[in-house]
Amino acid sequence: MKKWLWIFWVLITLSVTGFYGYKMTLDEDKTELLIGDATHGHFQIELACESCHSEPFGGQEVLQNACTNCHQQELKDAHDSHPKKKFTDPRNADLLEVIDARYCVSCHTEHQEEQTHDMGVTLPDDYCFHCHQSVGEERPSHKDLPFDSCASSGCHNYHDNKALYESFLVKNSGGEWLKHLDEINTNRAIPSYAASQSVDQQEISTLTAELFAQKMASHPDINNHWQASAHEQAGLSCGGCHLTGASTNDQTSLAAAWIEQPGVEQCQSCHQQEASGFLEGKHGMKLAQGYIAKISDMSSEYSGLSFSELVQDNQHGCNSCHSAHSFDTEYAATEACLSCHTDEHSKNFTASPHAQLKDKVLEGSLAAASQVTCATCHMPRVKEKQAGTEVVRVEHNQNLNLRPNEKMIRSVCLDCHNLAFSIDALADESLIQSNFKGKPSKHIESIDWALERENKNARKE
Ligand code: HEC
Ligand code: HEC
Ligand code: HEC
Ligand code: HEC
Ligand code: HEC
Ligand code: HEC
Ligand code: HEC
Ligand code: HEC
Ligand code: HEC
Ligand code: HEC
Repeated sequence: MKKWLWIFWVLITLSVTGFYGYKMTLDEDKTELLIGDATHGHFQIELACESCHSEPFGGQEVLQNACTNCHQQELKDAHDSHPKKKFTDPRNADLLEVIDARYCVSCHTEHQEEQTHDMGVTLPDDYCFHCHQSVGEERPSHKDLPFDSCASSGCHNYHDNKALYESFLVKNSGGEWLKHLDEINTNRAIPSYAASQSVDQQEISTLTAELFAQKMASHPDINNHWQASAHEQAGLSCGGCHLTGASTNDQTSLAAAWIEQPGVEQCQSCHQQEASGFLEGKHGMKLAQGYIAKISDMSSEYSGLSFSELVQDNQHGCNSCHSAHSFDTEYAATEACLSCHTDEHSKNFTASPHAQLKDKVLEGSLAAASQVTCATCHMPRVKEKQAGTEVVRVEHNQNLNLRPNEKMIRSVCLDCHNLAFSIDALADESLIQSNFKGKPSKHIESIDWALERENKNARKE
């Protein structure tokens, strides 16, 4: 897209000539065109204007398509309680006069820093009132509740409704706060990647074999790591990562085809799902837009996160957690994270009861796969059917269950805790800060209210 077209569009929409003291250059830096900072979720891609405004003079539908392109699946997985189709129903047309809930931008606009709340919401906190004024009359438990409390932790979310709907609350109202350790073991399988994947054995010509041998000889450490890796056992050759796409039988062009530092695209050729997950979350969203970014370019005052000085110049890729030739998933699950993340929550993990579960693994009373690591919560294992077989894979988008944090209840906490404890713990900000050391200091009444209503209905019948 030509830059002048963008400049023209910005000027036309703002109708303020001379608003920018820009130079008419053709370089692609659009910093000067940004009419206001992007929200917390998008600041990493705020200069990739095309990712949202896929064409400069597109209207509302263009933006809407962009939002749904990237977020539709996530909202579907969240059992969205207010999908667009609820509002295209003519009976609800009057509700749309104040907030046109068919369009994402009615509630999540961009470039409006001063009116942006958590999760990119650009509405006042009590907006549920517009459509649900009568809830106090219908439900005695809700009689005197203020409307800015509906969406507080453990009660409701506008979209996510995986663990907070009434019948789920009732069904999961019992149980001890912590399951028995044996029960935990049976619930957490180990990734069984090999079951689903076979590597196309590459033909190795004499020339390529020579090249590999030469590289191995000059890098004995790499060769040792390699010999012990799951990749070697699966029959992958050095060329699986270092020569992807190259087909050549001539020595000089072969040497030129050698990729010295394979990146995400090489791993992606075999690990499609891990790579998509990575690219859809905050670790890879910038790379997904074609930026070769350093850690220092990926954080801002918005995120409130802090990172180790040592990694500021590193790029984020598969190698940040997995090394190139040896693969230690235990390192990847905690230590790797702590080599970058230095905020309070992350730093407090090591001293938390969850981290101490490692001792039980060493004693032999808990399976290694059942301990709690950073990845247990942020990169949970998911069971799914692939080509008819059930496999367990690791979700590589650490944002998928992050916010609102009730998304973690079903994907993580319920493996080991009951619902009431999980809701209370996630509503307690000081517990998040301490990385879950101690019991929740709050009690959320959702389950109590749901049970009360259920009992009352039962009495009526
Ligand atoms: C994450 C998505 C996103 C990105 C990236 C983004 N914008 Fe926007 N932009 C929006 C949204 C949403 C609106 C508000 C539309 C509304 O409220 O109707 C908007 C509004 C605008 C407007 C006001 C005109 C209009 O169409 O409403 C301009 C001008 C604009 N953006 C320019 C830019 C430029 C230039 C860039 C890149 C430097 C950029 N935007 C990057 C989402 C984005
Ligand atoms: C190119 C893909 C892309 C487009 C286009 C896009 N988003 Fe996002 N959005 C992301 C990513 C990546 C994140 C950060 C990870 C996450 O929170 O899921 C994000 C985060 C968010 C968040 C959560 C913010 C938070 O702090 O938790 C909201 C809300 C959101 N986007 C809404 C929108 C809306 C509305 C639009 C359309 C104007 C839009 N997005 C367009 C990729 C996109
Ligand atoms: C009527 C207001 C409203 C509309 C319309 C709306 N959202 Fe949201 N959205 C919210 C609120 C409020 C939150 C904060 C979390 C919550 O309460 O669920 C949120 C949170 C999000 C999040 C964070 C993750 C999550 O699951 O909650 C994403 C992503 C998101 N919205 C995307 C979208 C997209 C895409 C659209 C359009 C298809 C859209 N929203 C339409 C109000 C709205
Ligand atoms: C633009 C109007 C609108 C806004 C704003 C709105 N809702 Fe709704 N909500 C609806 C409609 C319409 C339904 C569907 C009612 C029905 O099916 O009977 C609904 C349904 C619900 C349900 C039942 C969902 C289910 O399927 O179990 C809950 C809970 C809910 N809303 C809570 C909220 C909360 C909390 C807020 C504020 C964060 C909110 N709503 C904001 C219109 C809205
Ligand atoms: C699973 C993919 C993969 C396979 C298979 C693989 N490598 Fe690598 N290799 C990498 C990555 C990724 C890097 C870049 C490391 C970095 O950026 O720090 C790398 C870097 C290197 C380097 C550059 C030196 C260095 O330390 O940066 C050499 C030499 C090398 N590999 C040799 C080999 C040899 C020999 C084999 C076969 C025994 C092999 N590699 C197999 C992924 C792989
Ligand atoms: C040519 C295909 C191929 C490429 C390219 C490839 N892998 Fe693999 N990878 C595999 C196969 C097959 C396995 C399964 C081995 C097993 O489970 O026994 C595997 C397993 C893994 C594992 C699990 C290791 C374990 O001990 O459980 C990790 C982590 C991994 N790969 C990361 C990467 C990274 C990072 C890259 C890029 C630098 C990469 N892979 C490139 C085929 C590939
Ligand atoms: C933020 C750290 C991190 C990054 C970045 C990362 N991984 Fe992983 N990966 C992990 C962890 C942690 C596990 C194992 C989790 C466990 O054992 O519970 C894992 C497991 C895997 C596995 C084996 C399990 C499975 O999903 O089948 C593969 C394959 C894999 N990663 C590939 C990749 C590829 C390819 C990339 C780059 C696109 C990548 N990873 C980037 C942390 C990461
Ligand atoms: C190479 C450095 C690096 C490593 C290793 C790393 N991260 Fe990150 N992480 C980042 C950066 C940079 C961001 C983006 C920060 C932002 O958007 O503000 C991020 C974002 C996140 C977020 C989203 C924060 C938010 O507010 O949306 C979570 C959660 C997260 N990382 C968890 C992990 C976990 C768990 C691991 C280990 C399995 C890990 N990270 C490994 C650098 C790293
Ligand atoms: C028991 C589950 C659990 C464990 C273990 C855990 N976290 Fe978290 N993490 C959470 C929850 C819940 C949040 C808060 C999400 C929210 O409400 O915004 C969070 C938030 C984060 C954030 C975003 C903070 C922010 O302010 O945006 C990062 C980064 C993060 N965790 C990294 C880590 C790292 C690194 C580790 C391991 C050292 C770790 N977490 C261990 C559950 C966990
Ligand atoms: C794999 C099992 C497992 C998962 C998943 C898990 N926990 Fe735990 N959790 C435990 C165990 C076991 C303990 C008790 C550790 C001890 O005291 O020895 C614990 C302790 C706690 C404590 C501290 C209680 C105290 O008395 O100090 C809190 C708070 C907590 N978990 C919250 C959560 C939340 C919230 C989640 C989901 C985000 C979660 N846990 C996920 C196993 C798990």
